[in-house]
Amino acid sequence: MINRKKWLGILVSTGVFIAFGSSFMRPPKEKHKNVYPRFKNNNPNKVRDSVISKKSFLQAYKVLMSPRCINCHPSGNAPLQGEDSHIHTQGVLRGQDGKGMYALKCSNCHQPKNTPGPGMPPGNPKWQLPPESTKMVFQGKTPRQLAAQLLNSKENGGKNKAALIDHVTNDTLVAAGWHPAQGLTLPPLSHAEFAKQFKQWLDKGAYLPD
Ligand code: HEC
Ligand code: HEC
Repeated sequence: MINRKKWLGILVSTGVFIAFGSSFMRPPKEKHKNVYPRFKNNNPNKVRDSVISKKSFLQAYKVLMSPRCINCHPSGNAPLQGEDSHIHTQGVLRGQDGKGMYALKCSNCHQPKNTPGPGMPPGNPKWQLPPESTKMVFQGKTPRQLAAQLLNSKENGGKNKAALIDHVTNDTLVAAGWHPAQGLTLPPLSHAEFAKQFKQWLDKGAYLPD
């Protein structure tokens, strides 16, 4: 007669065998499959490479410093406008939350979508500057300074690398750069190319340009 205790013993030891024993019975891994044996996950896209990383940042930097992005990432407390990034007219200011001050709220004039016509405001449901606490200034930054700032979670709104990649790929304010108001130019790379270079900068080791 097999009693409860014995049954339990058989069950447990079978479980242990399935969990651990079977791994000893697998044939040894085929050596030739490890093309990149020194790197985790064998993912060649994530191999650190300072030359490629820095080069990719310099490509992304061209977009980050274009008027479509700079105009919302100014060094002062007023947004900027146009191809020459002049100070926003009507005395518009950042305000603590980035959404404007007093009666001059961004959303008074910036609608959820671009208002058609020359000189009309571009639109987005969350059109605003970064907040007072983390201004995320791009204007006037060298590539090295900007790269360091983007990586600093105290200055980038608490973003890790994955969140940064997600932001530049999917955020609708970033995408707004490629849907500018009538008559304004596009950033120098396509959105897809920009996102690719930005990701490559991080994947290859997030090196700071010299
Ligand atoms: C009184 C209306 C008004 C308010 C308030 C306002 N804007 Fe504007 N904004 C405009 C108009 C109009 C334009 C387009 C001007 C042009 O193209 O000549 C514009 C353009 C801009 C641009 C330039 C876009 C580009 O691609 O170059 C930015 C950036 C901007 N506004 C940010 C803001 C932010 C941020 C706020 C709130 C802090 C704000 N604006 C509040 C009317 C306003
Ligand atoms: C309408 C204003 C606006 C425009 C236009 C804009 N941004 Fe931003 N950007 C913001 C705000 C607001 C935040 C903060 C939001 C957050 O942290 O989620 C931000 C955050 C960022 C961040 C996060 C990290 C950091 O430290 O700055 C990046 C990267 C960024 N923007 C890139 C861009 C790029 C690239 C463009 C142009 C293609 C652009 N932005 C255009 C308003 C804007």
